[in-house]
Amino acid sequence: MSRSKTRILYQCQSCGYSSPKWLGKCPDCGEWNSFVEEERAVKLRKQETAAPVKLSEITHSTGSRHSTQISEFDRALGGGVVLGSVVLIGGDPGIGKSTLLLQALKGLTKLGDVLYVSGEESPEQIKIRAERLNVKSDNIVLLPETSLEGIISIAQKLSPQVIVIDSIQTVFSLELPSAPGSVAQIRECATKLMFFAKKYGIPLFIIGHVTKDGSIAGPRVLEHIVDTVLYFEGDKGTPFRILRAVKNRFGAANEIGVFEMSESGLKEVDNPSELFLSGRPINVPGSVVVASLEGTRPMIVEIQALVSATSFGVPRRTALGVDYNRVNLLIAVLDKRLGMRLGDMDIFVNVVGGLKIDEPAVDMAIISAVASSFKNKPVDPWTFVFGEIGLSGELRAISQAETRVKEAAKIGLKKGVVPAGNAGTLKGTDIEVIGAKNVEEALEILFF
Ligand code: TYD
Ligand code: MG
Repeated sequence: MSRSKTRILYQCQSCGYSSPKWLGKCPDCGEWNSFVEEERAVKLRKQETAAPVKLSEITHSTGSRHSTQISEFDRALGGGVVLGSVVLIGGDPGIGKSTLLLQALKGLTKLGDVLYVSGEESPEQIKIRAERLNVKSDNIVLLPETSLEGIISIAQKLSPQVIVIDSIQTVFSLELPSAPGSVAQIRECATKLMFFAKKYGIPLFIIGHVTKDGSIAGPRVLEHIVDTVLYFEGDKGTPFRILRAVKNRFGAANEIGVFEMSESGLKEVDNPSELFLSGRPINVPGSVVVASLEGTRPMIVEIQALVSATSFGVPRRTALGVDYNRVNLLIAVLDKRLGMRLGDMDIFVNVVGGLKIDEPAVDMAIISAVASSFKNKPVDPWTFVFGEIGLSGELRAISQAETRVKEAAKIGLKKGVVPAGNAGTLKGTDIEVIGAKNVEEALEILFF
């Protein structure tokens, strides 16, 4: 027994918000002109009910994780890929998603045949890339198909052990009238593919492009459907790439994998701290080293600031790799608590290497880099800082101070200026650790 009725619905192509009326601006994500008509079949089906199971009666097989043979990729996945899990890999076009997946497939061929569905490149193009990456395997099957029904029927025949969809924006279901890349298509196709993966217990990797103008629906609309969301980030001008887990049902979120794009594909970076500090200017004002933490992984990174007199009426503030509002807040603290007149200064803050840092421990580094550039006094290159800064200028303790200090010691730093609340717990390391209660004290130590 089934009946269906059709109603018109308008959907924001950027976030998936739907409305019975066309809207010029999305009330959810604020995007302009992003609404597109999605003719939606509302099917009222008879529900199939599942049987209840006692938690104690459920058996699960341990060791259902498989290594991609790329340890940085495994790390971001939480220790390898879980059978039957759906992993979304999002990122800007051209950042290296297809390259990463092709390299990972090489490692996964030991499970058996792997299916690489590409709606973007021809098998010949993929072959050229595979040769460049030195990926040779009879177990990689290429499928240049974009219809969902076609992909599923071929997958059923082949019964591959892994499936990669490159990209979800090119896949469309014949059952839906809307265009490939629309929210309705992306959701429908991802959901059907997910059912397939769960039914046969195979890992499914879905590649999704992120676009800023919202002309095609972003992977964001899929985040709640899939098990794991990894974003591939990096500045296209630099070779560094970060694979960041923003959601993971099978591991810790915020874990990262670090790569370097080379002539022959992505290379793993085992020691990112060394890489991010190589080539930094020594004894130049405005450069400060911070002991930061990404997930469970410590990273020593350089933060740069440039303070210069404003040439136009309104001072400019730019923050690359750190939160813009956080930078403004810290500038206000410097102005109010330390009397630095920054009101008529342009201020630029940048994390070197195209990295993004999103934790309060970086506050101290931002503030000391700005102060260093303003005073035109360099900070000792073998000194690092960390700590959260409160509105009254107090330096607050942060988590996992010991892990950070150990990493700093590993790459040869000598001295740390840290929150007083952390300093007490850090005795017995090779590094000279100096605690400071507030910004004033900390800057005193750094500059005199
Ligand atoms: P690609 O994987 O096609 O990006 P995406 O799938 O995310 O759109 O990567 C494209 C970029 O990577 C391209 O600018 C060239 C560069 N690249 C290298 O530098 N070295 C390589 O070995 C490969 C395969 C690509
Ligand atoms: Mg690609």
